[in-house]
Amino acid sequence: MFKNLKIGTKINLILIVVFILSILVTSTTLSTLLQHSAQNEVTSKAIILMRTMNSVRKYTQERINPLLKSRLETDTQFISETVPAFSAIKVFENFRKDDEFKSFIYREAAINPTNLRDKADGFETEILQRFRTNSKIQEITGFRSLPQGQIFYIARPLAITEPSCLECHSTVEKAPKSLLASYGRKNGFGWQLNEIVAAQIISVPSQEVFDDADHNWSMIMGLMIAIFAIVILVLNLLIKRVIVQRIKSIEKIAQQVSMGKMNIDFEEKYNDEIGGLAVAFNRMKYSLEIALNLLKKNEN
Ligand code: HEC
Repeated sequence: MFKNLKIGTKINLILIVVFILSILVTSTTLSTLLQHSAQNEVTSKAIILMRTMNSVRKYTQERINPLLKSRLETDTQFISETVPAFSAIKVFENFRKDDEFKSFIYREAAINPTNLRDKADGFETEILQRFRTNSKIQEITGFRSLPQGQIFYIARPLAITEPSCLECHSTVEKAPKSLLASYGRKNGFGWQLNEIVAAQIISVPSQEVFDDADHNWSMIMGLMIAIFAIVILVLNLLIKRVIVQRIKSIEKIAQQVSMGKMNIDFEEKYNDEIGGLAVAFNRMKYSLEIALNLLKKNEN
């Protein structure tokens, strides 16, 4: 079957097979690469935010709290600014005011929170329970579909690592008076040193990043298909001009010579393989002429 095909068709067939194979390989590799880099992008966003929030917590704990601690017993109103969780949550609220970041979410979800706003929902409780039952788990990540689109979340356990935390979170008796006045006596007590009390969860919108990756994939694939199509077109033209047409003209002349028309030559401008073929044909034609002439002479 393949034997009977014309040179142009043969080359085209090979090109198309190569083309389809490269498109298949490139499309899957490119898709994996782009998905991977999109995943890296959302993960690194979430990690940087998590680190920032922890720095804010640390700053409040080490710098702000000692400054205002003495007023917690005397003031009637609790100074929430002394609390690491409060400063982190407020800093994040400011960060979210920018339209670009409004769907980012920061949570310090606890089962027994001081501020009921931080009460873990079903999803968060599940994560928190996993941290509490297995202290080896240092991070849980994943995707979630929310009404505002797909989000990527990264959760880390938040433990009571310093005894100073217990000044407010151990018992009602130990807690500063103003804290009780502002937050009541029911919630956020009974925590132990080293206990994992909350899950720190950062949610980053991921839909857009993955949509961008898909968009880039289609652009690159489209460009590749266009380039391949142009290459096939140009190659076809070249094959026609440089090979097929010249072979056809040699064939035509050979046919005429074979029918006895000796006054035409195999003409070739180029010194390539086909040019060599024309020169050889010309030589053969002269030898044929000489042989024919000799034959004629002998007959006479
Ligand atoms: C000065 C008292 C005080 C100290 C010290 C303190 N906290 Fe709190 N903590 C609070 C209060 C009050 C809240 C609620 C803040 C709010 O309204 O956002 C809170 C909130 C939290 C929350 C969020 C969940 C919840 O209960 O609402 C976590 C987690 C937390 N604290 C952990 C810690 C850790 C860990 C430390 C030690 C590094 C610490 N706290 C030190 C008073 C304190």
